[in-house]
Amino acid sequence: MALPWALAVLSLLPLLDAQSLACPNFSVPITNASLDQISGKWFYIASAYRFPEYKKEASKIHAVFFYFTPNNTEDTILLRQYMTIGDQCIYNSTSLKVNRENGTLSKHSEP
Ligand SMILES: *[C@@H]1O[C@H](CO)[C@@H](O)[C@H](O)[C@H]1NC(C)=O
Ligand SMILES: *[C@@H]1O[C@H](CO)[C@@H](O)[C@H](O)[C@H]1NC(C)=O
Ligand SMILES: *[C@@H]1O[C@H](CO)[C@@H](O)[C@H](O)[C@H]1NC(C)=O
Ligand SMILES: *[C@@H]1O[C@H](CO)[C@@H](O)[C@H](O)[C@H]1NC(C)=O
Ligand SMILES: *[C@@H]1O[C@H](CO)[C@@H](O)[C@H](O)[C@H]1NC(C)=O
Repeated sequence: MALPWALAVLSLLPLLDAQSLACPNFSVPITNASLDQISGKWFYIASAYRFPEYKKEASKIHAVFFYFTPNNTEDTILLRQYMTIGDQCIYNSTSLKVNRENGTLSKHSEP
């Protein structure tokens, strides 16, 4: 499911680039310190999308919280997410790859 993943990425931006006020700089490198900072429980508050399909999907979401568990040795982040969509409660977990040099996270499909 692409949407919660997009939400997670958006939630990270303010932390990874605290200096730039106007717009996030995507080339800010990720360090052990920033990984430690994002570790823990997060709540989904709001989202904004240009793409109509994402907007439609987002309107179905009632509540989301998720946990980031970074592994600084492996350069991965375990993402465990709990979503209430419609009348369903959905749990999913996935591993994100940390690309330190360009400050991005990527999601690989399950093997
Ligand atoms: C973003 O970061 C890169 C690399 O650190 C730098 O070259 C670039 O000037 C920065 N851009 C802005 C808008 O700060
Ligand atoms: C990170 O991954 C390595 C290799 O899989 C593992 O040995 C280590 O225990 C992990 N560290 C944490 C904090 O989970
Ligand atoms: C980041 O943390 C890992 C695991 O503790 C360590 O092996 C690595 O050297 C650290 N990297 C930096 C740049 O401090
Ligand atoms: C959970 O994640 C897996 C792998 O990304 C995906 O195939 C599955 O559809 C997801 N389940 C839900 C309920 O989103
Ligand atoms: C960042 O680096 C990773 C690994 O080198 C690469 O796969 C990814 O495409 C890069 N992303 C961007 C936005 O440059």
